[in-house]
Amino acid sequence: MEQWLAIKENIKAWIKEVGKEQLIRMEQPFQMKSKSSDIDLVTEVDEWSEQFLIDKIHTEYPDHSIMSEESGWHEGQADFEWVIDPIDGTVNFAHRFPFFCISVGVKYKGETVIGVVYVPKLDEMYEAVKGSGAMLNGRSITVSITERLNQAVVATGFPYDRATDPNNNVDNFNAIITKVGGIRRTGSAAIDLCQVAAGRFDAYWEIKLKEWDICAGLLIVEEAKGQTFSVKKEKGYQVLVGTPAIYDELSAILEWEK
Ligand code: IPD
Ligand code: CA
Ligand code: CA
Repeated sequence: MEQWLAIKENIKAWIKEVGKEQLIRMEQPFQMKSKSSDIDLVTEVDEWSEQFLIDKIHTEYPDHSIMSEESGWHEGQADFEWVIDPIDGTVNFAHRFPFFCISVGVKYKGETVIGVVYVPKLDEMYEAVKGSGAMLNGRSITVSITERLNQAVVATGFPYDRATDPNNNVDNFNAIITKVGGIRRTGSAAIDLCQVAAGRFDAYWEIKLKEWDICAGLLIVEEAKGQTFSVKKEKGYQVLVGTPAIYDELSAILEWEK
């Protein structure tokens, strides 16, 4: 536990530094290219941020493994594995819409034990250590107490292959939009998860997510006493999280295999 707390403090210091740099670079021209489809982007700032974090981890914890969005798997011998999204919300970043974050999770023997998400523009640091609760800027957070779906504000997102694969979450969106108090699409899965943890959103669901989108955020929601479900499918994770009553109602609408 002592060790986990020390790692978490390092993550916070490093991603704060990365976030500061991202805000500066966002105001300047940057290179950009597409990945899996024309709308799936990566900028040089994603790559710089990722390399910064990998260098820090390799120096401080040379035997830890790392799974990072832009450069993939870096093998280590220890029982620790880092899961990094250097910019979650890259499309937002690329459009200078300042709703993006850095997401870092750490697994020990296969289980997520640390989750940290930093939103530079809001200067919001979300953090959790397994069994110790969740915090936003040092203050304890918990999910909302909303009980009625028609009063709930929920979030979702849509995959990058939405134009070519009909399994694109539009059916779920159509089934839910008329039943909820409000619906939001922020463009950052990690931020959505943290908004549920902070009690600002009452639930969030999405499909085809990658581990780096959700590793840190899922632990933060769990530690904020939220209900969580995630299952790995062929094209990524299906995720549903929420305050318990709203989670149950959405779960009944989505009818996902458990
Ligand atoms: C994306 C964001 C978005 C979600 C996509 C993710 P990226 O991550 O989290 O909200 O809808 O599924 O891929 O590409 O910005 O790191
Ligand atoms: Ca992401
Ligand atoms: Ca990303």
